[in-house]
Amino acid sequence: MKALITSGGKGTRLRPITHTQNKHLIPIANKPILHYAIESIAEAGIKEMGIVINADNDDVAKAIGNGERWGVQIQYIPQEAPLGLAHVVKISQEFIGDDPFIFYLGDNMVIGGVQRFVEKFRKEKSNCHLTISKVKDPSRFGVPDIKGDKIVGVEEKPKHPKSEFAVAGIYLYDKSIFEAVNAIEPSARGELEISDAHQYLLEHDFKITFSEITGWWKDTGKPEDLLEANRLVLSTLKGQVAGMVDNSSTIAGEVSVGKGSKILASHIRGPVIIGENTSIENSYVGPYTSILDKTQLRNSEVEFSIIMENCRIENVGIRIESSILGSNVDILKARGIPKTHRFILGTQSMVELF
Ligand code: DAU
Repeated sequence: MKALITSGGKGTRLRPITHTQNKHLIPIANKPILHYAIESIAEAGIKEMGIVINADNDDVAKAIGNGERWGVQIQYIPQEAPLGLAHVVKISQEFIGDDPFIFYLGDNMVIGGVQRFVEKFRKEKSNCHLTISKVKDPSRFGVPDIKGDKIVGVEEKPKHPKSEFAVAGIYLYDKSIFEAVNAIEPSARGELEISDAHQYLLEHDFKITFSEITGWWKDTGKPEDLLEANRLVLSTLKGQVAGMVDNSSTIAGEVSVGKGSKILASHIRGPVIIGENTSIENSYVGPYTSILDKTQLRNSEVEFSIIMENCRIENVGIRIESSILGSNVDILKARGIPKTHRFILGTQSMVELF
């Protein structure tokens, strides 16, 4: 069995972070989202992976490498433009050959791994095994129509969803999916939709089975999804302090402090992960916060947030919460007169002042 993972697309709903960074490399608990997909596929014993990347950008290939560190082989498959998930499958036919494969959307995260789905797909000898999950807003997703214990239809982002489930971004296929992706036409939004490929399989009597993900699953499409994913991963954190914590600091709960980091006269209430060479001084870091490397926090308070590398947060008079800071961001107290707020913000930045 092989694996096909997506890392292309535009990530428009995560701007401005995705203006300069591929969304699949955004850190969740200080680890790129894509690592979680690769790890759970490797754990299921699948060693040959193809990652689809935007043809004009090699950031993902540079950051992920050839898979050696996970004991797997990774190949990169360039996609000229984001023409849809069925297009992703279509251009990967040569890499997949006649093997069955898991198709994993690289922006999806699931707790509990994928082994259970692989086993069910094999046992039920399906042509296609879908994973589904109950959601509040099915119209954002592919939605299955379920009659009894069978999926009888799949629609992409329907206005009037036929069930309260989303088709999650973890699919298992045999080679019949290639017949489907080669037969369907682009949708009204100009994409070759994976849901249309599933509908094709149903209409041509291929066997589609499914598993319900009853635990946690997240499509990290929006900023609040990233914070929620970060919360969930941190809730399983086992703290480890490699850096320095001085005597006047207190650490409560699960807290990780990376090499070369210093915690001085501060209060850290886990779960919190702090990267390497970061310094926290006279500050409070509250639950569900991830802070990456080389960041400085001084006389400030942060909680339930993702802070990337090389940021400076100094003398901020009010707690920063539910926030995502890209790399090299400064939030500083203004000095002198006139007493003003001063912003230098890129396109689609978002600031909420109290
Ligand atoms: O997350 C589950 C949902 O994923 C499913 O319920 C939908 O049926 C499915 O169409 C998909 O919907 P999204 O709107 O969330 O897809 P998105 O455009 O965000 O792309 C998902 C992943 O695939 C993401 O890793 C970006 C990548 N991608 C996307 C397109 C359209 C590519 O690599 N190439 C593409 O052409």
